[in-house]
Amino acid sequence: MAKLLGNLNTAILLGTALLLIVLFGFHGNIVAAEGYANGFFRFLHVLVGIMWIGLLYYFNFVQIPTMPKVPAELKPAVSKYIAPEALFWFRWAALATVVTGLIVSMLSGYMIEALTLQSPYRLIGLGMWLAIIMAINVWFVIWPNQKKALGLVDADADTKAKAATTAMLFSRTNTVLSLPMLYCMVTQGALGGA
Ligand code: HEM
Repeated sequence: MAKLLGNLNTAILLGTALLLIVLFGFHGNIVAAEGYANGFFRFLHVLVGIMWIGLLYYFNFVQIPTMPKVPAELKPAVSKYIAPEALFWFRWAALATVVTGLIVSMLSGYMIEALTLQSPYRLIGLGMWLAIIMAINVWFVIWPNQKKALGLVDADADTKAKAATTAMLFSRTNTVLSLPMLYCMVTQGALGGA
């Protein structure tokens, strides 16, 4: 058991095997049918969305508030090892969430209507725009500034400090936007948009 779960790759394989049992158990008769892709892409979309927003909450609820309490000699463990790895999964999950979300809207037949905030897709359209703004923040503000702040690219101490503050403020902005964004995502299907 320790051998199986001790390795992330085999643990993911185990999860995938269980996923396939559930998937074929419940939907084996419709996987080839029109409409199945919409359901499957929703699954992929929520999976990568959890990875993205989960790491956003890790930064905001765990790493940022705890860093000031970490002794100076231990800080490099976070800035050199943990944060760069977390940022890798964070930014690629953000991109994957945008792509899978746009695919879901396309397969649902309302991508343009939602992005132009037409009725009855204004709610999901708003959610999509909030999430697109968040993803732009990740790729064009947070990541470039984190690269400077973490010393992944050359920068003097003053530039590093400013970059760390900018990255933190945009990360906080994304945490703020995540609440209305997620409300739009999950209620469009259940309650309808306007
Ligand atoms: C630019 C980024 C995004 C786009 C374009 C997008 C698009 C969509 C679309 C079109 C739907 C289907 C709504 C419906 O008709 O029921 C949806 C659902 C959903 N989205 Fe997103 N989304 C994005 C970001 C996110 C993020 C960051 C999360 C965070 C976890 C998320 C979580 C969800 C959830 C949980 C659902 C409900 C799935 C369901 O009930 O079938 N989305 N999204």
